[in-house]
Amino acid sequence: MTDESPHPGTPPKDCALCPRLAAYRAEQIARHPGWWNAPVPPLGDAGAWLAIVGLAPGLKGANRTGKPFHGDEAGAMLFGTLAELGLATETPEGWSAPGLFITNAVACAPPGNLPETAEKHACRPYLAEQLAALPHLKVVVALGETAHQAAIKAIGGKLPKYRFGHGVVHKLPSGVCLVDSYHCSRLNTNTGLLTPAMFKAALESTLAWRP
Ligand code: URA
Repeated sequence: MTDESPHPGTPPKDCALCPRLAAYRAEQIARHPGWWNAPVPPLGDAGAWLAIVGLAPGLKGANRTGKPFHGDEAGAMLFGTLAELGLATETPEGWSAPGLFITNAVACAPPGNLPETAEKHACRPYLAEQLAALPHLKVVVALGETAHQAAIKAIGGKLPKYRFGHGVVHKLPSGVCLVDSYHCSRLNTNTGLLTPAMFKAALESTLAWRP
C-alpha cells in the first residue's frame, strides 16, 4: 500500500467471523505478543494488473510479519520467482512488486495451515471486495485449489466449469483471467509436486497481460 488507508476489503484487526481462528489468534497473542497476530491485510497497489491469491497466512510467516508471503519459505519462493521475472525487488522494508496485488483466500492463520470450509466461506466477501477494487486487474494467479475456488467465486464464475490444474488458464465471464498454480508451500516443493521451473512457467504466463 502506498498510503495509510487500508485497501477496501481489509478485514478489521479484531474480525470475529471465525471463532476458531479468533481463538487461535488469541493464543498466539499470548504466546508471541510481538507478532502481528491479526488478519493479514493485502499487499499491493490499487492500480494492480496482476493479483496473486494464496491460501492463508503462515503462522510464523505472514502472521508474524503482518504482510502476505513475508517471512517464510513459501514467500521466499514466491518473491524470488517474481524477482527472476522482473516483477519484484527486495527492499529494506520487504518486497516491492509494483503493479501486483498479493492476498490470501483466508486472512487469518489457521491451525495446521488448514482453514475449514466455513472459514473459507466467511472470508470470501473480503477477497471479493479486494479484487473488485482493482479497476485495472487483468489476471489472477491462484496458488492451490482453495485459492482457485475462492478467486472464481470472488470474481464471478461457476465452479464446475473451471477445474483446477497447474498452469491452466481460465477466462472468467468478467474478462479477468485466472492462472492456476500448485501452492509454493514447503510441502509441495519438498515432495516435488511443484518444481521451481513449473512455478516460474505458471507465473511467467501472466506476462502476456503485463501493460
Ligand atoms: N504466506 C501467505 O501469506 N499465504 C500463503 O498461502 C502462504 C504463506
